[in-house]
Amino acid sequence: MQNFTYNIPTIINFGIDQLSHLADLRESGDRVLYVYGGGSIKANGLYDRSMKILRDAGLEVYELAGIEPNPRIQTIREGVNICRSKMVDMVLAVGGGSVIDSAKVIAAGACYDGDPWDLVIKPELISECLPIYTVLTIAATGSEMDTFAVISDLTKNEKWGTWSDFFAPRMSILDPTLTYSVPRRQTSAGVADIMSHTLENYFNNEKGAYLQARLAEGILKTLINYGPIALEQPDNYEARANLMWCSSLAINGLLSCGASVGWGVHPMEHELSAFYDITHGEGLAILTPHFLEFALNKDNVWKYVEYAKNVFGITEGTEMEIARDAIRATKDFFKRMRLPSTLSELGIDDEYFDIMAEKAAAGCFGTFVELTKDDIISIFRASL
Ligand code: NZQ
Ligand code: ZN
Repeated sequence: MQNFTYNIPTIINFGIDQLSHLADLRESGDRVLYVYGGGSIKANGLYDRSMKILRDAGLEVYELAGIEPNPRIQTIREGVNICRSKMVDMVLAVGGGSVIDSAKVIAAGACYDGDPWDLVIKPELISECLPIYTVLTIAATGSEMDTFAVISDLTKNEKWGTWSDFFAPRMSILDPTLTYSVPRRQTSAGVADIMSHTLENYFNNEKGAYLQARLAEGILKTLINYGPIALEQPDNYEARANLMWCSSLAINGLLSCGASVGWGVHPMEHELSAFYDITHGEGLAILTPHFLEFALNKDNVWKYVEYAKNVFGITEGTEMEIARDAIRATKDFFKRMRLPSTLSELGIDDEYFDIMAEKAAAGCFGTFVELTKDDIISIFRASL
C-alpha cells in the first residue's frame, strides 16, 4: 500500500426528503445561480419543489437552463456572465453529471479573469471558485462528490477533463427517488459509467492495496445486482439508492488510494464523444471489454483472476481461461443492461481513429498497461 492523503470535504445528505437541505445554501450568501439541463426536472416536479425551498429560505435565484449532455463551453460562458453581472455568491447544479460539471467550471470561471475554456485545458489556472452545491438526479458520473469536470467544445471536436480541489461540492443532496424518472437508456449508461470508474481504479498493478480492491469488488457486485432491477423496476428504492451511492463511491478517491492508478478507457471514450457526441456510458460499455482483452498478459493475469473469482464467482480453468471468462462475463452484463456492444451501432467508423487515438494517448498516464497511439487504434478497431 502506497502513501496517500485523502480528503473529501463534500457533505452528503442522502435519502428521501433531503431536499429541504437546500435551505442550507444560506451559509454561502444570498444569491444563487441555479443550473439545470434540458427540462427533465420540470417534467418530474423537482424544479418547482426546489425553487420553493430556495425562495422560502430567502435566496435570490438566477437561472441557467439548457445544459446539454456532453456540456458545451458556450453555455458555460453564459453562466459565467450571469455570475459576474449579478454578483452571484454560489452555484447550484440540479441534474446529472453534465449539469454538475458545468456548475463547477462556471463557479471557477466566475473567479477567473479570462475565458473559462482556459480552465478546461489548464487546470492549474484554477485558484479560486464560488461554493458549489448539487442536487443529483442520475446515478452515473460521481461528479456530486469528486473534483473533476468534463467539458466539450464540439465545434472543434474537443472534450477534456479538468480538475481542482476547489471543485469538490460543498454539499450534495442524493435522494434516490429523484432518479425514478431516469429513462432506461440513461439508467444503463449510468451503470456502465460507474462500472468503468470502478474498473479503471481496480485494474492497477499494486498488490498491497487489498482493502481498496475489495471495496471495488463490493461496488461491482452491487451494480451487477441492482442494475437490472432498476431497468425493470425504475421506482425500486433499494436499487436506485444502491446505484446512487455506488456513483459517488466509485470516483471520490476512495478506490484509488494507496495505488498508482491511471485511467485508459476514459480518454479513449472522451474522443468518441468529442467527435460523435455519443452518450459517455455507452462508449465505455463498448470499449471496456476490448481494453481488458488488450491489456491481459501473463504478468497481470492475477488481477483478472481476482476479478473473476470475487465478482463473478468464476473459478474453473487455467488462469488465462478464468481471465477470459471474466471478460466474457463483463460483456454479458453490459448486454443484459441492453447497452450497445459495437461502435458501428452508434454510427462510428474508422474515419477519425488516427486523430482520436493520438489525442487519447496524450491523456493516458500510468495506466494498467502502457497505451500507445497504435494500441488505442487497435482497441478502436476491435470495437467496430
Ligand atoms: O437534461 P435533462 O433534461 O436533465 O435530461 C438528462 C439528460 O438528457 C437526463 N436525466 C438526468 N436526470 C434525469 C434525467 N431524465 C429524467 N429524469 C431524471 N431524473 O439524462 C440525460 C443525461 O444527463 P447527463 O447529465 O449528461 O448524464 P451523466 O450524469 O451521465 O453525465 C455525463 C457527462 O459527465 C461526464 C461525461 O463525459 C458526460 O459529459 N463525466 C463526468 C465525470 C466527472 N465529473 O467526474 C466523470 C465521468 O467519467 C464523465 O466523463
Ligand atoms: Zn465516466
